[in-house]
Amino acid sequence: MGVLPVEQRKVLTTRLEELRTKALENPEEFWDEHARALEWFRIWDKVLDDSQKPFYRWFVGGKINASYNALDRHVRTWRKNKVALVWEGEDGEVRKYTYRDLYVEVNRVAALLKNFGVKPGDRIALYLPMIPELPIFMLAAARIGAVHTVVFSGFSSDSLARRINDSRAKLLVTADGGFRRGKVVPLKEIADKALEQTFSVENVIVVKRAGVNVNMVEGRDFWFHTLMEGISRSAYVEPEKLDANHPLFILYTSGTTGAPKGIYHSTGGYLVWVYWTLKWAFNPNDEDVWWCTADIGWITGHSYVVYGPLMHGLTTVMYEGAPDYPAPDRTWSIIEKHGVTAFYTSPTAIRMFMRYGNHWVEMHDLSSLRILGSVGEPINPEAWEWYFKVVGKGKCPIIDTWWQTETGGFMIAPTAGIDLVPLKPGSCTLPLPGVDAEVLTEDGAVAPPNTQGYLVVRKPWPGMLLGVWGDPNRYIETYWSRLPGFYYPGDYAMRDEDGYFWVLGRADEVLKVAAHRIGTMELESALVSHPAVAEAAVVGKPDPIKGEVPVAFVVLREGFTPSVKLEEELMNLVSETIGPIAKPANIFFVRKLPKTRSGKIMRSVIRAIVKGEQNLGDVTTIEDPSAIEELKMIVGNSRSQ
Ligand code: WT7
Repeated sequence: MGVLPVEQRKVLTTRLEELRTKALENPEEFWDEHARALEWFRIWDKVLDDSQKPFYRWFVGGKINASYNALDRHVRTWRKNKVALVWEGEDGEVRKYTYRDLYVEVNRVAALLKNFGVKPGDRIALYLPMIPELPIFMLAAARIGAVHTVVFSGFSSDSLARRINDSRAKLLVTADGGFRRGKVVPLKEIADKALEQTFSVENVIVVKRAGVNVNMVEGRDFWFHTLMEGISRSAYVEPEKLDANHPLFILYTSGTTGAPKGIYHSTGGYLVWVYWTLKWAFNPNDEDVWWCTADIGWITGHSYVVYGPLMHGLTTVMYEGAPDYPAPDRTWSIIEKHGVTAFYTSPTAIRMFMRYGNHWVEMHDLSSLRILGSVGEPINPEAWEWYFKVVGKGKCPIIDTWWQTETGGFMIAPTAGIDLVPLKPGSCTLPLPGVDAEVLTEDGAVAPPNTQGYLVVRKPWPGMLLGVWGDPNRYIETYWSRLPGFYYPGDYAMRDEDGYFWVLGRADEVLKVAAHRIGTMELESALVSHPAVAEAAVVGKPDPIKGEVPVAFVVLREGFTPSVKLEEELMNLVSETIGPIAKPANIFFVRKLPKTRSGKIMRSVIRAIVKGEQNLGDVTTIEDPSAIEELKMIVGNSRSQ
């Protein structure tokens, strides 16, 4: 591979190049052909409607159903008795569902939802642990055209309430409790608190999982197992023939303001995208046992635990608990036990396993593995090498997939299903067919090789979000205004001399903590809601395992003094308003925050201090330089402790 001029930099692999050229030069023809891999009730009138930019609409006039494409089409073939879902509980219990079993359950639950008066377009909130009922409810909702919004079961009651209120969900499905590290998370109790702050939920369905006592409100709350007794195993619910742009789901994700955004996706374009991206990146086949370790509460779980693998007729593995519980080899024992062939996880998990030591991996026979994947944050070359050598024994390509909640599926990734380009540890390689990704400078020019710039996508793609639920302006402002006309994901990246992409991290006030997205503004608004707190600034600090962790700087109001107790209170407050995953690694009490003379908090300066950098950037506009000295001292002291 030689060094190519900027306009031409690309690695020439014939098939990949051909598909990428075709998809970008003639997208309508390309997608007209590719979308037919799914079963449609009606073919579209128009492949892409771009008359209302940036509200692009794909497969306009097409009719489709997600549950039908995930289940019905397989039930009519030999796959009906193939295992669709292998579920392992944290306690070791295993449940297997064939495609037929899932089909039966999804039809029954769809009938149940109809009995509750759920109609196409109604929103239902799913606050469930990683148990089979979660995908079953998702598919049942999809079957009748209800829009599901899954709320990660690690979120707090406030977070749940906020999502219910924003989506105006009329039904909530939860469990008595879920297991995490052998302990019970009391989900129904948390949900009850959330329901005190909501007005749209009419009924609550409660799945029995943990066997703990819960409070059931007469006439509002119902046990799932009791309801199901009344529904026959031969129940059949006709799948709704939904418009291609009927929303399939809303998923909330953190942004740069205090309130998370409801990202919502289409049915047709999303399914086509998830289907093809999985095919191109991992080349799945009928012998595969596919395990994506993501929680279904995130987009990775939606696309690559549920919809993608099921559309492909794969066996998909779902595990309830912590990856290192009860011992650090839990993950490897699951791979061995179920003969996992394709394994997809996050760099944070890989770094954690690396720390535990090779012997935990080596005590298991992992010879079933043929391919590995990584997602959620940049993977450092050291972790990449370890994953490749120790887990994959040097035989399994690593598919580093760059994408986001908003993109629906993979965007930049190696393509084992087309041609595999030479891999470079730490690079997600090249864009998939149909993805017009580029790195631009501040003024919108293509960045020269090996120069950091903003990652953009210049053309619409079928899996793109339909918008931000209830807030069309926020959709335009967040994604289409930074570099007008182009989709702006909020990441820094660079391309090397071969045109490979290296995603360098967030360019905005969003942190990636253990691959989860956490908005610093959300944290700050939680902190300032405490009566003792006058001001707060949160920045990310590099962390050897989690990638980065939040660190908070807090200025107290007159009359309050720093104490361990207050620190604990603030930690708990974050846990209660967002969830335990958002807890800061440190809370530092300071007299003042570094601010410009116009009163803006100088976050880049705070970030540089936290990272221990000597060069703090431009500090000429600072209002009071002593703020910097104070921060340096406090951070320095904490380091030497
Ligand atoms: C952000 C999206 C994509 C599903 C899981 C997270 C970062 C994601 C990579 C990667 C470097 C990555 C980006 C992106 N990110 N994958 N392979 N290499 N960074 O979805 O919560 O919507 O977060 O995660 O910063 O913008 P998400």
